[in-house]
Amino acid sequence: PTYREPYRPVYHFTPPVNWTNDPNGLVFANGLYHLFYQYNPDGMEWGHMSWGHAVSKDLVHWQNWPVAIPEGPEGMIFSGSAVLDSFNTSGLGSASHPPLVAVYTSHHIPDRLHPEQYTQSQHIAYSLDGGHTWRKYAHNPVLDLHMRDFRDPKVFWYAPDSQWVMVVSFPEQHQVQFFRSADLIHWQHTGSFGPAGDTSNVWECPDLFPLQVKDASGKPTDQTKWVLMISVQYDVQYFIGTFNGKTFVADEPVDRIRKVDEGTDFYAATTYNDIPGSDGRRICIAWMDNWAYAARIPTFPWRGFMTAPRVFTLRENEQGKPVLYQYPVDEIGQLAVDSVQIRNRLVDEAHELQISPANKQQSNYPFTVGKLSLELSQIKGMVKWAIAQHGDSAIWVNYDAATGALQVDRSRSGITHFDSHFPAIIRMQLRPDQQIRLDVFLDKCSVELFVNGGQKAATLLFFPHPDQTGISLQAVHGSYRVDELKLIRYPQTAY
Ligand code: FRU
Repeated sequence: PTYREPYRPVYHFTPPVNWTNDPNGLVFANGLYHLFYQYNPDGMEWGHMSWGHAVSKDLVHWQNWPVAIPEGPEGMIFSGSAVLDSFNTSGLGSASHPPLVAVYTSHHIPDRLHPEQYTQSQHIAYSLDGGHTWRKYAHNPVLDLHMRDFRDPKVFWYAPDSQWVMVVSFPEQHQVQFFRSADLIHWQHTGSFGPAGDTSNVWECPDLFPLQVKDASGKPTDQTKWVLMISVQYDVQYFIGTFNGKTFVADEPVDRIRKVDEGTDFYAATTYNDIPGSDGRRICIAWMDNWAYAARIPTFPWRGFMTAPRVFTLRENEQGKPVLYQYPVDEIGQLAVDSVQIRNRLVDEAHELQISPANKQQSNYPFTVGKLSLELSQIKGMVKWAIAQHGDSAIWVNYDAATGALQVDRSRSGITHFDSHFPAIIRMQLRPDQQIRLDVFLDKCSVELFVNGGQKAATLLFFPHPDQTGISLQAVHGSYRVDELKLIRYPQTAY
């Protein structure tokens, strides 16, 4: 890999070569953010699933480490999580060398002629050298229900009971199961949740974590709630409720569906274990892709992306109910090289705002890495915003202030023909409002859009042609004020 390939992102993790899907084993240990990922060491399609490995000091620059856990005779290494076993509860390390322990699903195919007759069980592997080298536990599996579909364990330390908790999926039953353990080896069933919310497809990659509730203005309250997050192809849903160390109970009726991200390319989201500090940020990374077309996206010599790491918070909405907010980590801001700012402009049908921010010295893709922010007010009619535009080709964002409908259209965004599901239009319902704030993080071929500081999010891949570098703002049947348009440019290459 040259890292100069078209579409190679700057601040989104991609493996140097080959296929990736889910992020796995997100854990912070000894000053490093570890990112493991579903990886095919042998090709650009799904297969031979193993855990690839990268580390970062700042969640922006990643260093590639060797494959941590390769597939073996026991099966492929499917998704899971990792923890630092600080007290050596597992006995796999020592008090002075606490082990890093990965808990994952082994996908076993007893008869190669019948790959559909697989079984899934939970295994562990550990590292005694800070994650450089890994050993599979000699007495795997640690949890085997002799089931076909039983996968994606998320393990974390539940301090009130001094126990490890595992949340793991029964994908076909639309259920997650809770187990607990004192040593990461012996597991006892404690509860279950589901079916609930979105049951239109398999449930995968559950996660469960507490968050302090903030009020509508962002001030912390004395309330803590638990968030249960579940991937349901092709989205990620979440529930807010309580967890007593054994089972989760949702606050709201369970027929209500809340999506974490409303874009097309956000799946298998999972959060970091062991982030230090009293304000310990809850940082999430998802697979920025979609099973519907992941095998056909036009990148080379790798296939698959991670989202920008995002901080999750809970904030009370107008009804006083906590909802999930998210925003990329501040660390990305360190990439800023320069910025362009426009203030106090009126846009109406006769006056559109066009920026051709191409800094031609920089590269052929002058404008596709950075953060674009809009603050609009007095909106009458519809706002039409083109990002990465050349003529009619662009990501088109429309906002109708009267109805609160926000659309993101990538059907004319560049190369779209490789799969019929790709040319999509995303529709989001906001509260009708004459003002709006939109932040878009761009990185060569991805758009991560955040509404009103993270109240809603939409993540989309797109594959622009090299001339798609413009930005424009138009008004349809009305007018509005651009209080501020700000573009912060990031560098064009990461390495
Ligand atoms: C989700 C998923 C997981 C599984 C992994 C296999 O994208 O299907 O349920 O562990 O991918 O690669």
